[in-house]
Amino acid sequence: MVPVTVENARALWTILQQPDLRTYQDLPSVSAPVFTEMVGRRPKHLHAGATGRFEWLIYPSHTRRPAGWISLRIAERDPASGEIGYSVVRDHRGRGVATEAVRAVIEAGFEDAGLGRLNAYCVPENAASRRVLERAGFTYEGVLPHGATVGGTPVDVLMHRLEREAWLQSGNSIVMPASGYPA
Ligand SMILES: CC(C)(COP(=O)(O)OP(=O)(O)OC[C@H]1O[C@@H](n2cnc3c(N)ncnc32)[C@H](O)[C@@H]1OP(=O)(O)O)[C@@H](O)C(=O)NCCC(=O)NCCS
Repeated sequence: MVPVTVENARALWTILQQPDLRTYQDLPSVSAPVFTEMVGRRPKHLHAGATGRFEWLIYPSHTRRPAGWISLRIAERDPASGEIGYSVVRDHRGRGVATEAVRAVIEAGFEDAGLGRLNAYCVPENAASRRVLERAGFTYEGVLPHGATVGGTPVDVLMHRLEREAWLQSGNSIVMPASGYPA
């Protein structure tokens, strides 16, 4: 996994243009230069107390083009929690790519950023995403009415949560470190 920077932001922007990634989520609809500018304003270091959006391109072994992306968003109003989001392009789906990336970002969130809790949201119809979260150790917490918008329309989302303590006790905490962000 490679952190998204102004140098590779265009590769992520290109992925974001794929229409089937927007079936279950809203993604930014901006030009490549504007997107690159947005990336340039993001934090550069992932460490305890860091806030903002951290994002990685996912490169499965032996691939030169990214298979998807994964993000970790830490809000200033709740710096002990992070929210995970991800997508994998169609050709790479069903091979465990998202699950592996989520596991790596869980590790970055708890170990590098020192978070106490991770949250993830998906719409009820997104069975693949629900399965990814389940396999990565997240627990289903309930429905958040109108918790997101898809195609500009408010939709209910399923809340999933993973506490640091539960992760440490689960044995899932032994994964390859993949932050790549300087501390
Ligand atoms: C959700 C998504 C990221 C999953 O990526 P992926 O790399 O294929 O995920 P993985 O291979 O790690 O795991 C997918 C799991 O879902 C299962 N799955 C896939 N489609 C499914 C379906 N329609 N119903 C039930 N399970 C399904 C797979 O069998 C697999 O589980 P398994 O390993 O137990 O067999 C990918 O489908 C995607 O990008 N979708 C479009 C964008 C999106 O929805 N992003 C997430 C927003 S919350």
